[in-house]
Amino acid sequence: MNRKKLHVITWGCQMNVYDSGRMEDVLRPLGYAPVDAPADADMVILNTCHIRDRATEKVFSELGRLRALRDETGRPGIIAVAGCVAQAEGQEILARAPFVDLVVGPQAYHRLPELVARAARAGGAVIDTDFPAESKFDHLPEERTAPGVTAFLTIQEGCDKFCAFCVVPYTRGAEASRPAGAVIAEARRLVAAGAREITLLGQNVNAWHGEAPDGGTWGLGRLIRALADIPGLARIRYTTSHPRDMDDDLIDAHGQVPALMPFLHLPVQSGSDQVLRAMNRGHDVPFYERLVERLRAARPDLALSTDFIVGHPGESEADFDATMRLVERVTFASAFSFKYSARPGTPAAGLPQIEESVRDRRLQTLQALLRDQQAEFNAGCVGLTLPVLITGPGRHPGQIAGRSPYLQPVHLTGPISAVGQELPVHIAASHPNSLAGTIEERACA
Ligand code: 5AD
Ligand code: SF4
Repeated sequence: MNRKKLHVITWGCQMNVYDSGRMEDVLRPLGYAPVDAPADADMVILNTCHIRDRATEKVFSELGRLRALRDETGRPGIIAVAGCVAQAEGQEILARAPFVDLVVGPQAYHRLPELVARAARAGGAVIDTDFPAESKFDHLPEERTAPGVTAFLTIQEGCDKFCAFCVVPYTRGAEASRPAGAVIAEARRLVAAGAREITLLGQNVNAWHGEAPDGGTWGLGRLIRALADIPGLARIRYTTSHPRDMDDDLIDAHGQVPALMPFLHLPVQSGSDQVLRAMNRGHDVPFYERLVERLRAARPDLALSTDFIVGHPGESEADFDATMRLVERVTFASAFSFKYSARPGTPAAGLPQIEESVRDRRLQTLQALLRDQQAEFNAGCVGLTLPVLITGPGRHPGQIAGRSPYLQPVHLTGPISAVGQELPVHIAASHPNSLAGTIEERACA
């Protein structure tokens, strides 16, 4: 077979990380093997994110670098743009960067072999941003690149919620769930290949409602219970969830399934009812807080992370204060926070915008509080013994690294042979973004 080299650059969410791996899988039978540097590659794929404007700008500056590289060395022969910018701005990409050979949207990756062949032949660019009737998951190869100790598994794509600020319903399309049988089979293959922790992915993962093996329909709680039965699968996570789709069975699963990690990413976006309404989130602040209470009642050691947007159109100073108060009441182990970024084609983009300097100030104020809460949460782990899943070598010789149930990176001294094991670790120190500890000697019976 003709050996060729592929370099994929990934921006954005974990779903893009998963997709990049699947693009490598679908191109492997054509002879493409991954390489680390674009300068060595016959084809470079930019897997892009459209969620905020800076993400889009990064794509165009990377395209500029690739064009300079090609002018100098003749490589890469094929420059492809995939992901959400491809979906939303395919024609604009070709207008602004006519040297791009291939534009492919997230729903069409299974067609890459044919598209790449056409791009290699074609004089002009090839573009495929349709939402095909067939599901890409039915046409992607079963074989995946060997996963690490932790693996992603996409079970759901798209979103029907239409939050006023968000491009996802337009770039990823309507909500669609993979059947339970296909998910369980993929999870089994991942575990057989060495994965000990699987993170189930979806833009709106807890809206998953898949065809069950008996022909009925399951919700996410039921799927998690089935996955927990796979021997060797130590940890299950899922992300990203919408508060409105947290049903009773899923909340109960948090209390009943030990493999389901006590850490949940549950975006709230704002602590003001007025802003939540403007965002079309479909719930208010008391709803979110009650949900958190129920989750903590089901799983008392549950820690939360969340997403915030500051400076959404219509957000007053009082609304922003309400967000600060919500953070103080709920307390988060970690959080992502963003300045509102107007996305073309979304309802909020057409509203009067908040001044940039106000957005900046609010973001800094909120992030200072969130940083304090994260540091406090990490400090609260000192002195505890936490189960740590060892994922690989550490920064220094003799060190290994792993992650706690709360996704904190943990650094410790230990043998590399421990990779893949979940070990009790006494946490001795905390840092803003990580923990350090020592392996607890198991007492002899
Ligand atoms: N501007 C800023 N942040 C956004 N997000 C989504 N759309 C926008 C936007 N237009 C944030 C939300 C979401 C996370 C993935 O990105 O907080 O939960
Ligand atoms: Fe975007 Fe999430 Fe809202 Fe869907 S639920 S529109 S993905 S923020």
